[in-house]
Amino acid sequence: MKFSHAIIEKNVILMAVLTLITVSIGGLVQIVPLFTVETTIERVDGVRPYSPLELAGRNIYIREGCYTCHSQQIRTFKDEVERYGHYSLAAESMYDHPFQWGSKRTGPDLARVGGKYSNDWHVAHLNDPRALVPESIMPAYPFLNRPLTFDDMDRHLQANRTVGVPYTDEMVANAVKDLRIQAGALPDEDTDAFLARYPKAHLGDFDGKPNEVTEMDALVAYLQMLGTLVDFTQINPDDLKQ
Ligand code: HEC
Repeated sequence: MKFSHAIIEKNVILMAVLTLITVSIGGLVQIVPLFTVETTIERVDGVRPYSPLELAGRNIYIREGCYTCHSQQIRTFKDEVERYGHYSLAAESMYDHPFQWGSKRTGPDLARVGGKYSNDWHVAHLNDPRALVPESIMPAYPFLNRPLTFDDMDRHLQANRTVGVPYTDEMVANAVKDLRIQAGALPDEDTDAFLARYPKAHLGDFDGKPNEVTEMDALVAYLQMLGTLVDFTQINPDDLKQ
């Protein structure tokens, strides 16, 4: 045994070939099982695709570069969990294309900002952050009070479906209508079907202007749902251990 090992150690080419074979076996053992599973993300109750209005808001969040100052990823450290709430689960961003985890926190993490403030607070804050937080260095976004373009929302849903978000044909067909229902622009419309498609979605006129669906409506609807889909009182921490 000792002798054969000496042969390998003295022959650099043989050593390289055998190293390659060993490392390849190790790599294959790790990678091949992953080809047989559909997803490595554990499903968690409550996580659903974004409603059309939330998705429109998310598009504005990306367009305005909010991710350059805000993360959406609560790490498993005690200080973060005490400040922001339960640490983020992989499933909570499984329908994010692209994900918004961010890499810098000039402002606070937003992964669970939903429900923390009222709609009015968000609107006032986005219009003029310093009106509410005098020392804030966040830019003002008063131009978001302009009308939202949403007649192409069905295509946004379809685009997300292409990359794996399970939007149904019914969701795509109703995208524009669902967006208007959620923003309170169709007050006489039945909301049951909408809420069956998007459980826990917040309905209402987010920006205080009932006659208009604005970019502000969409962005606030998105912020208000962040981190609210999973009911952590119903989750057993042991189930989340991998
Ligand atoms: C230049 C960095 C910067 C950018 C860009 C930025 N923010 Fe902020 N944001 C901050 C800072 C700093 C704070 C903390 C002070 C305050 O509340 O204004 C903050 C606070 C917030 C809060 C309150 C969070 C909390 O838990 O109190 C929300 C919500 C928010 N920002 C949303 C947004 C959205 C939406 C955008 C994009 C339209 C955005 N921010 C863009 C820096 C930024």
